[in-house]
Amino acid sequence: MRVLVTGVAGYLGSHAARSLLLAGCERVVGVDSMVRGHRGALRALQGLAGGSGRFAAEVLDVRDRPRLTDLLRREGVGMAWHFAGLTQVGESVAQPDAYWGANVEGTESLLAALEAAEVPHLVFSSSAAVYGTPRELPLAETSPLAPVNPYGVTKLEAERRIQAWAEAGGRAGQGGRRAALLRYFNVAGAAPDGSLGEDHRPETHLVPSALQVALGARRGLEVLGSDYPTPDGTCVRDYVHVDDLMEAHLVAMRWLARPGLPSGVHPTEGDAARTRDADIHSRAWNVGVGHAFSVLEVLDACRRVTGHAIPHTLAPRREGDPARLVADASRIHRELGWQPRHTTLDSMVASAWHWMRRHPNGYPPSP
Ligand code: UFG
Repeated sequence: MRVLVTGVAGYLGSHAARSLLLAGCERVVGVDSMVRGHRGALRALQGLAGGSGRFAAEVLDVRDRPRLTDLLRREGVGMAWHFAGLTQVGESVAQPDAYWGANVEGTESLLAALEAAEVPHLVFSSSAAVYGTPRELPLAETSPLAPVNPYGVTKLEAERRIQAWAEAGGRAGQGGRRAALLRYFNVAGAAPDGSLGEDHRPETHLVPSALQVALGARRGLEVLGSDYPTPDGTCVRDYVHVDDLMEAHLVAMRWLARPGLPSGVHPTEGDAARTRDADIHSRAWNVGVGHAFSVLEVLDACRRVTGHAIPHTLAPRREGDPARLVADASRIHRELGWQPRHTTLDSMVASAWHWMRRHPNGYPPSP
């Protein structure tokens, strides 16, 4: 199978390409606009593929539909993993139009290209941000979808367009279209060999920001809100290791190629209409560990793992941040047999720290 990975030079796309290569994928065809992607990530993936010809990457914005369609046809791609997009909650509040363009119009263009090139299967990088502020926890896939920031709005809209694309494409399992919508909680960690990692510029995510403090590259960190209704007043999140997340993609990929319902599926009431017909075109799965940690607990794990203090100050809340996000990940356990291997904060932080010590300035600039 030849797999398209969009956003291949970013944090998640690069780890996805690595997981596909390690899983024996015939060829990974990566695209990235290179607006935020890293040449260094592409070089690491070329190194992993060696001279096998199993990895190729092109500078291409998914909104360039004609070129994308041409690439899909030329490469004989059978499935797409879609990561390209903008991913920062805070930035989305300031630039909602940019988020709509990259995340919704980008997805729409990809779907049109998949249709034109007759690529039937898609795994989509969705987000827990589609749920908004939870009414009850943990969040199941059947929980209300009510995003509270433009980032979440664009992810939900992209999900809806993907569902419509899949349902318009004939009977699933009989050559028809299918899509897996993976709703990630907070992703952390890096490839265990330190070859790939998280490098956003500027960095706004909690774990890499705290590790930059440990490294001495940043003076201190602001805890964004200490008056939330949580045990220590700081936001609580469910962290999942990037390698476990990619394993979820691999199990979803197997589901896409299999006719009918996932084995052992027991439709819940809210799902009944969709699962009555054993012909599911698209299905959402939460990808989280099911344990959640506060910002202060994360900083403590960073201190334990690195042996360095993480000086921080208490600052006002960041707009668009729900107090607590915790996954009910039982559907993906039950239906796809996925289980996270990393369940402690320390093991996630340790792999991120390994990457950061090898790359204190992130990926090297292009030669
Ligand atoms: N935080 C701080 N200080 C910082 C950075 C973050 O206190 O310097 C806090 C945030 O306020 C939040 C928590 O740490 O409470 C985690 O923040 P991140 O920015 O690391 O992650 P988010 O929870 O905002 O968002 C992440 C992904 C989204 C995804 C979401 C789902 O970036 O794509 O998780 O939970 F939608």
